[in-house]
Amino acid sequence: MSDERTFIMIKPDGVQRGLIGEILGRFERKGFKLVAMKFQQSDVAHLEKHYDDLKARPFFPGLVKYMASGPVCAMVWEGLNAVKTGRVMLGATNPADSAPGTIRGDLCIQVGRNICHGSDSVESANKEIDLWFKKEELVNWTSTQKSWVYE
Ligand code: RTP
Ligand code: MG
Repeated sequence: MSDERTFIMIKPDGVQRGLIGEILGRFERKGFKLVAMKFQQSDVAHLEKHYDDLKARPFFPGLVKYMASGPVCAMVWEGLNAVKTGRVMLGATNPADSAPGTIRGDLCIQVGRNICHGSDSVESANKEIDLWFKKEELVNWTSTQKSWVYE
């Protein structure tokens, strides 16, 4: 069974629009295992670290302001190909290009208000999980449950 982990976050607009249950539910129904979840208002410094690879982009200040505009729901999900499949479930960055059936394709319309974040590689996932969670906040499914319905 794969223990690949991805970091998924419901952005402030997703929270304000009451979409936590909808987004979380899609990951749950898909068969991924929830490893950690945290609902918090993040400060600018923390969000600048999260999006550090985009700091040279013209939209960076607006992106950080948007991300700090309200609480977010940060989660870690685990399972086979969690990173790649998570990105497929989110859909393209710009909702205008996100396929129907994806989270962004179904639930939003603007790139600057695209309701969710997902790690783009296993390396980014590990960095993001470290930034948002302490080790002791992550559930270890391997030690708590020997078998799982999805292998
Ligand atoms: P995310 O990191 O949030 O999952 O999004 P992503 O990988 O699909 O896209 P990325 O290039 O990492 O961009 C991060 C977020 O920045 C906002 N953005 N705005 N105005 C623009 O042209 C623009 N481009 C990107 C989006 O909120 C995007 O999700
Ligand atoms: Mg990204």
